[in-house]
Amino acid sequence: MSVAENDLSRIKNSLHGFETRIKGSRFLVTGGAGFIGSWFCDTIISTGGSVVCVDNMSAGSEKNIAHLKNRGKFRLATEDVCKFGTKEKFDYIVHMASMASPPLYQKFPIETLDSGVIGTKRMLELAAKQKVKGFLFTSTSEIYGNPPENMVPTPETYYGYVNPHGPRSMYDESKRCAEAYCYSYWKQKDTPVRIARIFNTYGPRLDAKSQTGYGRALIKFVNLAIKNEPISMYGNGKQTRSFCYITDQVEGLLKLLLTPGLDGEVVNTGSEEEVSINNLIKSIIRLTNSSSKVINTKPAYDITDDPVRRKPDITKAKKILGWEPKVGLEEGLKKTIEWVKETG
Ligand SMILES: NC(=O)c1ccc[n+]([C@@H]2O[C@H](COP(=O)([O-])OP(=O)(O)OC[C@H]3O[C@@H](n4cnc5c(N)ncnc54)[C@H](O)[C@@H]3O)[C@@H](O)[C@H]2O)c1
Repeated sequence: MSVAENDLSRIKNSLHGFETRIKGSRFLVTGGAGFIGSWFCDTIISTGGSVVCVDNMSAGSEKNIAHLKNRGKFRLATEDVCKFGTKEKFDYIVHMASMASPPLYQKFPIETLDSGVIGTKRMLELAAKQKVKGFLFTSTSEIYGNPPENMVPTPETYYGYVNPHGPRSMYDESKRCAEAYCYSYWKQKDTPVRIARIFNTYGPRLDAKSQTGYGRALIKFVNLAIKNEPISMYGNGKQTRSFCYITDQVEGLLKLLLTPGLDGEVVNTGSEEEVSINNLIKSIIRLTNSSSKVINTKPAYDITDDPVRRKPDITKAKKILGWEPKVGLEEGLKKTIEWVKETG
């Protein structure tokens, strides 16, 4: 069994009880050709639901969804979410379309703001008009900005410490505004909105389009380590992140969307296993048996306001979803490395 096949069956096995809500339901998934979105679509299709995937392919990859195209019940609409319109009827809308990696959103700041603000309003309007059963918005840990020490692990009740006029603002503030739109549609139009504040997630298909170009750090490190090429580290490497493996993330998102009685809720979805970037690189080098050297280079994008620590408080997810990550970093890294070798 390939890593991807294994991961899909792992997600499906974690869904006990939720399959009946997926089977026969119609999903609209924006950003569905991207990393998390494509796993979401995979799970829906293989559980008997149907998907219209709206993606402008700015960061998504044909490779992520090629296997779904001939399965029936899956349709790709290659369109910008800010302009997408349809008369098709949906049971659930999942809005993930966003430029999610810093080099990409810094290169396209206006488009990033638009998909967060205009795209979110458009999808919420569609959800309100169609009276869908559920609307999931994928927000981010970035809405917390750079929290002080006493706010790490960070709970949903923390309001954030965010720079509205800086190189991360187009992403962070668009997600904050999108959350406010979600809250307002829930309050004013009774739209059944649920918000996931996703923390760093990784695994097969992460930045499949450009693993060394606009790619996010972890997958870039894996690719360079496998090729025994130098690995550039930005800053002193002491900054931390908590990496959640894709199978756990998709399980958490589906449970948040499909558990009854959670309209209006905001939930952190991420791993509690915190690691410094320094130690992450060391683990990747060890697991790939690589001769790569770590070098300090000038960052390829502006790292001003890069958060010092990132670790979620997932007490709420444990309580209301009965969810917590099961795949440890070591195991997830091994799977990711195997997948890169398999597909690269
Ligand atoms: N992966 C993570 O670590 C992480 C962390 C926090 C939040 N998130 C959020 O989860 C969601 C999915 O992230 P991902 O890691 O899969 O990113 P991704 O870049 O792999 O996927 C995002 C997809 O959205 C598409 N897209 C972007 N702008 C669009 C537009 N205007 N119209 C239509 N499609 C558009 C891209 O082409 C891409 O396929 C995003 O909303 C992101 O902000 C991800």
